[in-house]
Amino acid sequence: MRVLVTGGAGYIGSVVTAQLLSEGHQVVVVDDLSTGHADAVPPGAEFHQLDVAALDPVLGDWGVEAVIHFAAKSLVGESVAEPARYWRTNVVGTVALLDSLRAHGIDRIVFSSSAATYGQSKEQPIREDAPTAPTSAYGSSKLAVDLALADYARAYGLGAISLRYFNVAGALRTSEGRYYGERHTTETHLIPNALRAASGTGEALPLFGTDYPTPDGTCVRDYIHVVDLAHAHVQSLGVAAPGIHQIVNLGSGSGNSVREVLRTVRAVTGSDVPVAEAPRRPGDPPVLIASNDRAADLLGWRPTLSLRAMVEDAWEFHNATN
Ligand code: UFG
Repeated sequence: MRVLVTGGAGYIGSVVTAQLLSEGHQVVVVDDLSTGHADAVPPGAEFHQLDVAALDPVLGDWGVEAVIHFAAKSLVGESVAEPARYWRTNVVGTVALLDSLRAHGIDRIVFSSSAATYGQSKEQPIREDAPTAPTSAYGSSKLAVDLALADYARAYGLGAISLRYFNVAGALRTSEGRYYGERHTTETHLIPNALRAASGTGEALPLFGTDYPTPDGTCVRDYIHVVDLAHAHVQSLGVAAPGIHQIVNLGSGSGNSVREVLRTVRAVTGSDVPVAEAPRRPGDPPVLIASNDRAADLLGWRPTLSLRAMVEDAWEFHNATN
C-alpha cells in the first residue's frame, strides 16, 4: 500500500515509517521539521518538508491510498500555557488535512490520539467508552480530532481509527543498524530523562510526587514499546473500514510506578539514577492503565515487549546517539 505518514520525522512517526517500509509498503513522509529531524526519516521514504495544512495542491500527485497522521504538538505542559498553538496546529491543521483527503478521494486514516483525552479517569483499566475529560489543551485537541473523525466517517464515508496511546517508550534498531528513538529538544518524558541522569550527562531527575495514593507513593503508568505501537498502526491500516470511526487504546493493561521504572533503569544501566524528590507535577493523574481488550479483538494486537526491553532499547539508542 502507498501510505502518507505525517510527522514521519518525529519519534513515533519515524518508527512506524521504518516498520511500513520493512513490510513492503511505500511511504510518503510529510513533516514541517518544527520538532522532527530530517535525518530521522527512514531511507526509502519519499520526504516532503511541508505543513499538513498545505497538502491540497500536491496530494493528488502522490497516489496515496491511506494516511497515518502523527504531525502535532505534543507537550502537555506547553499546551496549558499556549493552548492557541495546540488548537491551531493539532485541530485546525488536522481539519485542513481531512478536507484535502476528501478532495482527493483518500478514505482511510489512522490517527495518533492519546490517553490524555480521558483526563483523570476513575475507571482503571480505562476502556474506550470511559468518559473523556481532558485536563490539558493537548488532550482537548486530540479529543476534538477524534470527534471530527467520527463526524467525517458518518457524513463522508471516511474509514478512521483513533489509536489512544498510553506511555510510549523504547527505540527501534533496524536490520541495517539504523536507530529510531526519542530525540525531543525539550524532553519531558520519564525514561529518556532517567537515562540521561543515570549516564551523568543530565541533571538529577526530578521525581514529581511521592505522596500519591499508590503502593509506593509515585504515579503508576502503562508503558508500551514503540515497536509494539508501530505494529498496531500497520494492523489498523488493514482494519479501517469506510464510514466507520473506531477508537482503540494501546497499552499493556498493567502499570509500573515511577520508582519501579527507576529500578529498571538502574538494572539496565548499572548506575543509580540521581533523584531530586519534587512536588507533584500539575495535571499528573495518580494512575493511568489501559484496557487493551478492544485492541486484541479489533486489531488482533497484543503487546510483546516488556518495560525492561523498553529501557534496554532506549539505553542502546541513548548510547548510539550521544
Ligand atoms: N516523571 C518524573 N520526572 C520526570 C518526568 C516524569 O517524576 O522528569 C513522572 C511523571 O510525573 C509521571 C511519570 O513520570 O508520573 C510519567 O511521566 P511522562 O512525562 O513520561 O509521561 P506522562 O504520563 O505525563 O505522559 C504520557 C504521554 C503524554 C500523554 C499522557 C496522557 O507522554 O503524551 O501520557 O496522560 F498526554
